[in-house]
Amino acid sequence: MSVDSYSGNSSATTRHYAPYVQANWGYANHWYPALFSEELANGGLKGVTIGGHDIALRRSAGKVYGLSDRCIHRGVKLSAKPMCLSEGTVSCWYHGYTYDVSDGKLTTIVGNPEDSLIGKVGVRTYPVEEVNGMIFVFVGDEDYGTPPPLDSDLPARVTNDPNDAPVPHLTDDNIIVRGIHRKLVGNWRLAAENGLDPGHLLVHWDNQILVALDRALPLGVNALTNEATEEIDIPDGPKGVMNRYDRPDLYQPVLENPKVDIKARGTVPHYFRTSLWVPGVLMVEHWPITDHVQYEFYVPIDDHHHEYWEIVATRVADDAERQEFDFKYEHFFKPLALEGFNNSDVFAREATEEHYTRFDGWNNEVLCDMDYSIVAWRKMAARHPRGFFESPYQDED
Ligand code: FES
Ligand code: FE
Repeated sequence: MSVDSYSGNSSATTRHYAPYVQANWGYANHWYPALFSEELANGGLKGVTIGGHDIALRRSAGKVYGLSDRCIHRGVKLSAKPMCLSEGTVSCWYHGYTYDVSDGKLTTIVGNPEDSLIGKVGVRTYPVEEVNGMIFVFVGDEDYGTPPPLDSDLPARVTNDPNDAPVPHLTDDNIIVRGIHRKLVGNWRLAAENGLDPGHLLVHWDNQILVALDRALPLGVNALTNEATEEIDIPDGPKGVMNRYDRPDLYQPVLENPKVDIKARGTVPHYFRTSLWVPGVLMVEHWPITDHVQYEFYVPIDDHHHEYWEIVATRVADDAERQEFDFKYEHFFKPLALEGFNNSDVFAREATEEHYTRFDGWNNEVLCDMDYSIVAWRKMAARHPRGFFESPYQDED
């Protein structure tokens, strides 16, 4: 198998996935994670930015609402100084414009309750869903209509083997979900591609978690055929690509390279499988350990920053299993996987950003066979865009 036709990139190459190259600010009209539930107390208000959209999230009577985080009066952010004076409303801290959280309408002005504007104007709202400790927001065109189900923007429910239960899914009952998120430098696509990349295992070769577990991680994983990366395109459902590491006839691990005198470390084999889904969600089955799943979201903030979400999920049957998970999360998964192992990915992505920003990286990259799955992802992500986020800066393209 070869990706010759994609090597030594040029405009001829990128036209295979032109809409993807266009998506500097990310894909619009998708569900994105905004906050963990525990980050938004009842009665509270917090601001997030997704694809250039500033969104205020307000929890009122237990339910979370999303509104534009720009007051229509003089444009300050409502979240700059949260002021929630009554259930179901948000007031602007500057001159008191007060919005109804359910429809965004101007419901009063604190110091001018008879103003003729009241009831006639308002801020836009955003659909919100909260599931298993995560708050998701549907971000995109105000007139998009009814959003598709959240599940369509999450990885598909898959099994490793027809005899296995499906891998724990973020919307399942009886699962536990814990994780972190942080703002990083780098375009969201560089982060997403790094997550899937079968060739990037080299950045992890000295990571503590591998040494501590004596885990055998190859130097790279070579695709043997065009089917090695499976395209999964479910009508009205998830769309993604999967590296079929479960198929030795499709992928072959590289364990040594005598030319540079390096061998993969570790003696304990460990099976895992990676897949990447529109609009930028990674699923790593059996990671950090067997029967657990690590999900990662690469949420565009603007064209040069993304919010990096790292989640570990697994099934739990009772409180004792929950407590065991919590212990392992605090003392193993978080320090060694999310903050240890994945910091190598963070370093790599932030280092990649400069080239793509300053030197037109999309047209100046020299890809090799190891990049087959990245190209498959780009083509998949380019296929059915629901829309693109646009720069809110008026003097930019
Ligand atoms: Fe919000 Fe004036 S800027 S009320
Ligand atoms: Fe990695």
